[in-house]
Amino acid sequence: MGLPTYPESYWLATVGMPSYGKLEKDLEADVAIVGGGIAGLTTAYLLAKEGKSVVLATAGKLLGGTTGYTTAKLTAQHDLIYDEYIAHFGEERAKRYYEANMEGLAFIRQLAEEANIDCDLVEEDAYVYTNAESKIASVEKEYEAYKRLGIPGALEEKLAIPVPARLAVVMHNQARFHPVPYLKHLTEQFVKLGGRIFENTTIDKVEENGGSVTVTTADGRRIDCRDAVSCSHFPIPDSGFYFARLHAESSYAIAVRAPGELPKGMYISAEKPNRSVRTITYGGEKLLLIGGESHKVGQSEPGFRHYEALEAFARTEFGATDIVYRWSAQDFEATDKMPYIGPVSGGKKHIYVATGFRKWGMTTSVVAAHLLTDLIVGRGNRYADLYDPSRFHADPDLKTLVSQNVNVAGQLIRGKLEWLRRKPEDLGPDEGGLVRVDGRKAGAYRGPDGELIVVDTTCRHMGCEVEWNDGDRTWDCPCHGSRYTYRGEVIEGPAKKNLERLN
Ligand SMILES: Cc1cc2nc3c(=O)[nH]c(=O)nc-3n(C[C@H](O)[C@H](O)[C@H](O)COP(=O)(O)OP(=O)(O)OC[C@H]3O[C@@H](n4cnc5c(N)ncnc54)[C@H](O)[C@@H]3O)c2cc1C
Ligand code: FES
Repeated sequence: MGLPTYPESYWLATVGMPSYGKLEKDLEADVAIVGGGIAGLTTAYLLAKEGKSVVLATAGKLLGGTTGYTTAKLTAQHDLIYDEYIAHFGEERAKRYYEANMEGLAFIRQLAEEANIDCDLVEEDAYVYTNAESKIASVEKEYEAYKRLGIPGALEEKLAIPVPARLAVVMHNQARFHPVPYLKHLTEQFVKLGGRIFENTTIDKVEENGGSVTVTTADGRRIDCRDAVSCSHFPIPDSGFYFARLHAESSYAIAVRAPGELPKGMYISAEKPNRSVRTITYGGEKLLLIGGESHKVGQSEPGFRHYEALEAFARTEFGATDIVYRWSAQDFEATDKMPYIGPVSGGKKHIYVATGFRKWGMTTSVVAAHLLTDLIVGRGNRYADLYDPSRFHADPDLKTLVSQNVNVAGQLIRGKLEWLRRKPEDLGPDEGGLVRVDGRKAGAYRGPDGELIVVDTTCRHMGCEVEWNDGDRTWDCPCHGSRYTYRGEVIEGPAKKNLERLN
């Protein structure tokens, strides 16, 4: 059937979102927000409602980051996590995590209802299911955790979808929606409240000097403000060793046509390769959205295999007839699996961060927006300690931190030693990979029309070697998740500069 090429192939995209110009002159504001995804927009909206003068700057277009490529389940069921959170953070904090995310869901639902936003918000139960003997005990333990924390749920032996499953833990009263109409409304309200938005504005530096903050764009424009919030996925500035405490995970998704009544409920498997299933309504048509195949960015088999695996699952289990859309995206995960929301580091009182949503940022972004707004206006917030980026829990955080750094060091070395035999002339149409040019290693892609684009494969963040992703025609960095188009343009940080072009 032939898969469309990146980046035309996503369903949520930015269709219908308003457009804004680039920041062309220096500005002053109470608060500068970096990042035009759900976290940045919701924070900007809440701060503007508090009467703050707010500027939001984002690289690329609004919703052009992970928010535009999400699967948009609105749930506090974030895989199998509560049993682990109880063990690691204690019962009281695990319960607060659940409550925070249910409040996030309630906020979205209430705003969508009050403003009558047509965003396909449907209440559904959420399931984590398993067909693997090795995961049965984990699913049972998760349900025990639900009971201890008072989470409405159940254990089920049969699912309403035709996938092989022996056991599932269900969380009741969750939801799904389409984030674009919802965030379009939020954006318009923000602008009505006096908020200013700048697209195609990459922020290079965020610096705190005494009681004020200067945010500087890659073009040298300045926003002088009292507070700044980095909702840019990877924090700016990286003054809290985030490169060692966060890693980026890629996931793939396809939207398919399938015969018969589409199932109710939202599903995710406990085992890998993971599978996520929900129904969407797009352009008046009901489609099945299948996601999964998660892996660390830049550390996997060829990208197209992940799409093939999802396609095979959709055909075998649901009788899917055709693939309408496909896309991939990534999200950051903290070493202890708890998002980082709060002051970017102990020494900085006016720079805040919201990241590490672990592919569950729809509700957590709303939690972040309320928490950061409270911190900036000087109110208390009952979740501040839970998400505090300065927390340090030696076990298992330390162990993961060490193994993550060993993993990154391995990637640095492996990339540098890779032996290259291929020349650019060897590449066929629509083919990319590592090649040797003038005796040195380079990355090349030959377009379908024969155009050859050659880039330096040294990542502009900290110098790891980027890997070719043939599923999306991108260069992906295995160290901290930066991604670049085949032309070398940054799609996703922490890198802020494009790969160097060699031709
Ligand atoms: C495949 C997939 C499926 C998912 N499904 C779900 C789901 O079902 N439910 C759920 O709750 N969550 C889900 N998530 C997670 C959720 O989509 C994300 O957590 C959320 O969208 C993150 O929002 P954000 O605003 O933090 O980031 P983003 O939407 O990525 O926004 C960050 C913005 O910052 C900008 N930026 C970055 N660097 C700079 C810079 N230097 N200067 C200026 N701007 C910059 C980017 O351009 C981008 O616009 C999924 C994630 C993936 C990858
Ligand atoms: S993302 Fe850090 S070195 Fe590439």
